[in-house]
Amino acid sequence: MFAARSAFSTVGRRAFSVSAQQNSKVTVLGAAGGIGQPLSLLLKLNPRVTELALYDIRGGPGVAADISHVNTKSKVTGYNPVPEQLKAALEGAEIVLIPAGVPRKPGMTRDDLFKTNASIVRDLAKAAADYAPDAKLLIISNPVNSTVPITAEVFKSKGVYNPKRLFGVTTLDVVRASKFISEVKTTDPANEEVTVIGGHSGHTIVPLLSQSNHPSIDGATRDALVKRIQFGGDEVVQAKDGAGSATLSMAFAGSRMADSLLRAAQGETGVFEPAFVESPLYKDQDCEFFSSKIELGPEGVKAIHPVGKVNKYEKGLIATALKELAANIKKGQEFVKANP
Ligand SMILES: NC(=O)c1ccc[n+]([C@@H]2O[C@H](COP(=O)([O-])OP(=O)(O)OC[C@H]3O[C@@H](n4cnc5c(N)ncnc54)[C@H](O)[C@@H]3O)[C@@H](O)[C@H]2O)c1
Repeated sequence: MFAARSAFSTVGRRAFSVSAQQNSKVTVLGAAGGIGQPLSLLLKLNPRVTELALYDIRGGPGVAADISHVNTKSKVTGYNPVPEQLKAALEGAEIVLIPAGVPRKPGMTRDDLFKTNASIVRDLAKAAADYAPDAKLLIISNPVNSTVPITAEVFKSKGVYNPKRLFGVTTLDVVRASKFISEVKTTDPANEEVTVIGGHSGHTIVPLLSQSNHPSIDGATRDALVKRIQFGGDEVVQAKDGAGSATLSMAFAGSRMADSLLRAAQGETGVFEPAFVESPLYKDQDCEFFSSKIELGPEGVKAIHPVGKVNKYEKGLIATALKELAANIKKGQEFVKANP
């Protein structure tokens, strides 16, 4: 199941068994949804998670009761949508994952979700800032390019913002890139790593094939592969035909990101994941947030690595991405200013 890159590596498992006393509460807000349910199940299978708090506006306790029968050690609790239960779900959390909100239907862009999801994320961010200000926050709800700036603005307004602990989850883009390039080259995806930078929607997703194992991919093959990585989410939206977007692959990606943060928190070094974080890389081009390869540490972000050498074609992709990204970021920031 975790062939591509084990969600919980064997090395990590061994490390965990010697430091098993560490308590790690993980909270999922939107736990009863298409992503929330399989994500919560994968987190239940993770030996590093000692407590799982599942909150949703409907169905949290049901999902929790179901998952709680899985015979792993962690304690699972479901929470109903009342303020004191949201507070209880958040208090003491080391990681909070937010997949709450509506998904796309065919023909929609992620930005089309802004109207509904901006206020959902803003309100959950307010609760997280109040009750789990020190948690690492993993924003899955789209449009990630705007919901991450929204969360940052909310945390700033409450005086608890720490850019090291706020992540937009872009892991699915590298998971897809690794799989899709392996299909082109007929290789094992476990051996394929593709750096993907930028944001998490269409043209803001920039795969750096020149830094992959196959820098010579060129011409129409390259164009088709890049397009597939950028718009891979659409394949799922179309195939589901109105029933939503990626949920299972997203749960895999979200669980991998949470596990990487837990491993880094427990002292493992050399843990890298891409993520959409506050970043100095393109701040001078109005992109305060940018996804690139991030080294994780106990505090969350340990180091943001430079993009590295890119070719002319990729420079063009980055230039296109930055324009759209800057507008998405501004839209999120202005939303909170206008609707605090
Ligand atoms: N970051 C990524 O790579 C990525 C990938 C796929 C989907 N997504 C996004 O994730 C989000 C969720 O997708 P899904 O398929 O799980 O949708 P879904 O509709 O199946 O589930 C969403 C869940 O959120 C809950 N919810 C709504 N408002 C809430 C609130 N205020 N508090 C708590 N829970 C609330 C709903 O009750 C539902 O259970 C969408 O915005 C989607 O676009 C992100």
